[in-house]
Amino acid sequence: MKKVGVAILGLGVVGGGTYRILTEHREFYRKTQNVDIEVESVLELDRSRALALGVPEEKIASNIAEIVSDPEINIVVEVIGGIGAAREFVLAALNAGKSVVTSNKELFCKYSHELERAAKRQNAGLYFEASCVGGVPIIRTLLDGVQANRISGMMGIINGTTNYILTKMTAEGRSYEECLKEAQKLGYAEADPTADVEGFDAAYKLSILSSLAFHTKVPFAKIYREGITGISQEDIADGMDLGYVLKLLAIGKQSDEGIEVRVHPTFVRKDHPLAAVNDSFNAVYLTGDAVGDVMLYGRGAGALPTGSAIVSDIIYAATHSENKYSTFKNTANAEKDVKFINNFKSAYYLRLTVEDRVGILGKIATIFGRHNVSIVEMVQKGTQQDGKVPLVLITHETKELSVRAAVAGINALGETAHVDTVLRVVS
Ligand code: HSE
Repeated sequence: MKKVGVAILGLGVVGGGTYRILTEHREFYRKTQNVDIEVESVLELDRSRALALGVPEEKIASNIAEIVSDPEINIVVEVIGGIGAAREFVLAALNAGKSVVTSNKELFCKYSHELERAAKRQNAGLYFEASCVGGVPIIRTLLDGVQANRISGMMGIINGTTNYILTKMTAEGRSYEECLKEAQKLGYAEADPTADVEGFDAAYKLSILSSLAFHTKVPFAKIYREGITGISQEDIADGMDLGYVLKLLAIGKQSDEGIEVRVHPTFVRKDHPLAAVNDSFNAVYLTGDAVGDVMLYGRGAGALPTGSAIVSDIIYAATHSENKYSTFKNTANAEKDVKFINNFKSAYYLRLTVEDRVGILGKIATIFGRHNVSIVEMVQKGTQQDGKVPLVLITHETKELSVRAAVAGINALGETAHVDTVLRVVS
C-alpha cells in the first residue's frame, strides 16, 4: 500500500481539526483509498498545544527546514494564516518538491500566481479547497463538477461570522455591537473582527471563486467591497416589513459586457433560497448554461468542517499522480482584454430623513426622475420628530452610478432631505 507522509504547519483550530481527522480516520483511508496517510511532523510554536492533541514529542519540528528536508514528508499542510511566514513556508515546501494543501484565502488570493508557478516548476500539487467556504466543496465543484458549463453567475453567503451577526440582528432585534460581541464570545469573530465584518474575507474568497468560475484572473482589487459595520437595526426591521432579509452577499457575474464582482450587504426576498441560510452557515448559488442552478450549503468554518476540506485535498494529492492546477491563466493581474463592470445594475433600498411638509416628496421624486431611478414602493416610517420623518423606498433595477448621483442630488438639498442608508436588493 502506498505510504504518504504529511506535515501540518500550525495547530490552531483548523490544524487541530486536521490532525484529529487524519489520525482518527487513518484506518478508514487505508481501507477506502488504499493509501496509508501518516502525520510525520507538525510545526507549532506552542508545544503544549501539540502535546495536548496527542502529537508524539518526536514529531514536533523546530523549524521549517526540518520539514522541507525530510524525505518521508510528501505533503505539507499550511494552516498558519496571514501572509508572512505562511508564504515563506509554502514556497519553501513547493520548492523542495512537496505538494501543499492550504486553507489560506488571503495567501492564495494574493499570491496564487507565484505559488502555482513554483508548484508547476517542481511538479508538486497545490490544493486550496479549505480556503473558501470551509467544508463546502465549492472549489472541487468548480474545478470538476461544473466544468462542462459556462458559468454566468454566482451568489453566495461566504462568511459565517457576518451571517451569524446579521441572523441574530434579524431574529432578536439586537444591535450590531451586541451581536458582534456574542460572535466573538462564541469564537466566530476574532478580537479584531475587521477582516470578517468589513468584507475582506468574503472578497478574498470571491476573488478565488470567480477566477475559477470565469476562467480568468479576478484580482482582489477589482472587487467592490462594503462590510456590515454601518447596518442599523432600523434598516433590518424596515427591510423585514417589506419582505426582505439582509445578508452579506458575494456576487460574481459574467456576460458579454464583462465581469462584475462585489461583496456588500444585500436585501434578499424572504422566499429566496439564500434567505434561509442562517447563523454561521454558508451557501453558494451557481448558474451554469447547461446545468442551470446549483446550490451548495454547509459550514463555512470550524475545526472539523475546514479539516474535512483539507483532508479531502490531502487524499486527492495522495491518490493522483497528475496534479490539477487552476483552469485559468494564473497571472498577478487581470488579463488585458477582460473588462470589469463598476456601473453594475441592481435594485436598491434607500432610507431617507425628510422634512414633513408640502412639496418635499415632489422634489425628491424629481431628482430620482432626473437620474432615471424608478421607485417600486415608498413607505413613511414612524412619526414626525423635530419636523422630520423617515422614508423608506425600493427602486426598480437601475445603474449603480445613477443611484449614487440621485443620492448626491438629494443630499445637496441640505436640511430638507438626507439619504441615511443605501443598500442593494436582490429580488
Ligand atoms: N472567518 C471566516 C468566516 C471563516 O467567518 O466565515 C474562515 O474563512
